Formats: sequence, structure tokens, C-alpha cells
Amino acid sequence: MRPRRSVLAVPGSSTKMIEKAKGLPADAVFLDLEDAVAPAAKADARANVIAGLNSPGWGDQIRVVRVNDWTTEWTYADVIAVVQGAGANIDAILLPKVTSAAQVIALDLLLTQLEKADGLPVGRIGIEPQIENALGLRNIDEIATAGPRVQTLVFGPADFMASINMRTLVVGEQPEGYDTGDAYHHILMTILLAARAHGLQAIDGPYLQIRDVDAFRRAAGRTAALGFDGKWVLHPSQIDAANEIFRPRQSDYDHAELILDAYEFHTSVAGGARGAVMLGDEMIDEASAKMARVIAAKGRAAGLARTQTFTPPAD
Ligand code: GLV
Ligand code: MG
Repeated sequence: MRPRRSVLAVPGSSTKMIEKAKGLPADAVFLDLEDAVAPAAKADARANVIAGLNSPGWGDQIRVVRVNDWTTEWTYADVIAVVQGAGANIDAILLPKVTSAAQVIALDLLLTQLEKADGLPVGRIGIEPQIENALGLRNIDEIATAGPRVQTLVFGPADFMASINMRTLVVGEQPEGYDTGDAYHHILMTILLAARAHGLQAIDGPYLQIRDVDAFRRAAGRTAALGFDGKWVLHPSQIDAANEIFRPRQSDYDHAELILDAYEFHTSVAGGARGAVMLGDEMIDEASAKMARVIAAKGRAAGLARTQTFTPPAD
């Protein structure tokens, strides 16, 4: 799967910001028809998004459209408009406030009809369910497995905090008075576990204090450490930070590649066909190789080059 370390949120109502997004180094960009667009501006935003997707200037960003959620009157028309208008230039639809597999399946069916009608390859456009309320979190496994189009699980912290009545208005920061741990741990871990259980990417949501890049780095660093694949960015200043934080450190990447080489050598017949072997002072086995494969794959996808090579021990 392509990396989604930084996922840039762009209001569909702003042609200027859509134009600017094309040249920014985010791994993914989503053009928003939902909460960043006022109700009166929804129809115009659809036209902006279609024009933006079809006009030149994009790099190799993953291009996503966030439609309105299925409880509104806008969802079907959003999907029909953007897929008929720019389907070949859309990689995925971000579906907010998902509460059940049925909502993912409804989108899947609609996408299939539109792809067939427009001669687009059936099944190419992915679905990214956004988990933003208690019911969505309780039903996360059925949502994650609602069909092969599902590519990621995306956390929506602002809506989520509102949905559970969490007593803070600062997204990503701990609610005052809760001093015994991380108030988000259960939610984040549930999303991460569902993503890993079903082979999807786990994406953290926005950090709203856009001028405080250090605070963004701390928030992103926490979910990156947990195992998340990427995070939303709301401003160009957050993009480089996200790309760096969700890419493995060079030393970890080098170490992972060394583990893989050493493991391959020692498990081969020429290397003695052993399962648990030494790399320097470290004992490695199949489980170490599994961890190393994850880091190596992320490093390679992010374009890291190794700076150390493995030399088989002389005996
Ligand atoms: C994003 O959609 C959020 O609710 O945080
Ligand atoms: Mg939301």
C-alpha cells in the first residue's frame, strides 16, 4: 500500500487551497465536502472539487474526496457528482461518521454502478471509513471488513470527543481532571488493532492548533510510536513534520535491513539453516524478522536508502 504519512485536509469550497495543495509534498490529499464546507456552499464545492481533480498540476499524492455522511441529504449526490465528474482522478472516498458495515456497503454499491456506467475499472476507487463516534468504534470490525474497497481506518477526534461527551475542547490534548493516563488510548488502540487485524492503514486525525508545530509533533509522535501509519495535516507547516515522524528513523531502517539480511543468510542452507541466530550481540528469530519487515517496508516506501551493508561472519 502507498504511504499515507501526511494526509492534507483541503476545504472543497476553496479553489485557491485546492490549487495550492497540488504542489505540496503530502502523501495524500482529501478535498472536503463535509465539515469544512458550510451547508450553503456544498453545491459549489462539488464543482470546485471536480474542476480541481481534473486540472493539471498534481504530483503523485493519493487523491481522496470526503463526502457528507449518510445521515445527511447530500451523500448520494456528492458521490454521483464527483465520480461522474472526476472518477478517473479519485483514488478513494473518505466516508465520515461511519456507524455500520451497511453504510460502507451502500457506498460500495453506488461506486460500482457509477464505475460501470462510466466505463471505469470496477473496484478501483477505495473507501476510507472515518471512525467518529461510539457506535462506529463498537462496530469497527464489521466496518473494516465491509468489502475489499476498504483501505484505511481514519480517526475523527473532534467528532469523537463530542460524541462521547469528553470534557475538553482541545483536540488531541488530555481533558482536564483526567490525570490517570491517556484518555485516547482505548480509542486509538481499538482503531489500530482493527486496522492491523484486517490489513488496513490506521490514520490519526487532525491537530487543530495549526500554529503550534511542536505540539503537532508531540501529538503525531505519540500515534506514530503506537503504530499508526499517518496523520491529517491542516496546514503546510505540518506536512514535513508528519512525513518525518511517520517515516522510520534512518538508524531503525538500517537495523531492520541488517536483521533481514542476517536472518536470510543464517536460515539458508549455506548459512547453516538455523532459526535463532546472532546479529552482533542481539539474538534474532522469525519474530524479529517480522518486526524488521514492517520497518523496512515503511522505510523503502518513504524512499530511505540503507547506509549499512551486511557481511556474513567469516568462520
Ligand atoms: C475530523 O473529522 C474530526 O472530527 O476530528
Ligand atoms: Mg469529523
